[in-house]
Amino acid sequence: MPDLRSRRSVSQAVLVKLLSAELTDWSRRAPGRVVVDLGGGTGGMAMDLASAGYRVKVVDPSPDALAALERRTAEQGLIGRVSGIQGDASDLVDLVGAAAADVVVCHRVLEVLDDPVQALAAIQEVVSPGGALSLLAGQRHAAVLTQALGGHLAQARRTWVDPDRLDRDRILELVLGAGFAVRATHGIGAVADHVSETLLDAEPGAYADLLALETEIATDPAFQALAPQLHVFAVKGDGVVGSSSPT
Ligand SMILES: C[S@@+](CC[C@H](N)C(=O)[O-])C[C@H]1O[C@@H](n2cnc3c(N)ncnc32)[C@H](O)[C@@H]1O
Repeated sequence: MPDLRSRRSVSQAVLVKLLSAELTDWSRRAPGRVVVDLGGGTGGMAMDLASAGYRVKVVDPSPDALAALERRTAEQGLIGRVSGIQGDASDLVDLVGAAAADVVVCHRVLEVLDDPVQALAAIQEVVSPGGALSLLAGQRHAAVLTQALGGHLAQARRTWVDPDRLDRDRILELVLGAGFAVRATHGIGAVADHVSETLLDAEPGAYADLLALETEIATDPAFQALAPQLHVFAVKGDGVVGSSSPT
């Protein structure tokens, strides 16, 4: 479970809660238990998903991250449910196989890749028909705000004009362009990432209030546009679950 006292953990807790709800709803209609976590790093999300009964394959180019993943898997008694595969997004199909995953998780990775269009095409190929994508990507507006408020004004201006920075519209365009139907979108960290840890430590009940507030505003389009991260839950094609407009 996430550390309940840090700010990032509020965002992580909201993400886990929202993703769990989407997966529960989706798996009623398209049951499947194999998750590929692309760029899954040390396995923060893999541990939660494996504990919930999924078999998780973490694909990541970093040997250090995969070594930490292996240690963590053993510590949490999840051997056999989590495995690490060293490799790059550009080799995803060769590494895990076409239509081999019921769910692909791609959290905080798209923005570090040279070619997000190619990566999403590869993800689409490894997701089985009716399978799902959980995408979390960093957004331009929040980065500009954070950099400017931190006094890094020149950097904030560079971020603002950087054509490779993602925002809600571009992220949805990429997901839809890859052939996924968007079922839900959530802003992650819109408030939680700005609340001081001192407040959380000092005020009894502050963590619970912040968690509730973040969960409530996650589906609001204005907060989504401002959130540091956008979460998109989407399904491949429109056959099994049916598409819905992004909310
Ligand atoms: C910011 S971390 C995110 C880790 C994890 N997904 C999370 O949400 O905590 C970015 C991860 O992407 C991985 N990564 C970097 N370049 C990659 C690539 N070309 N293909 C796949 N993963 C990559 C890094 O090794 C790192 O583990």
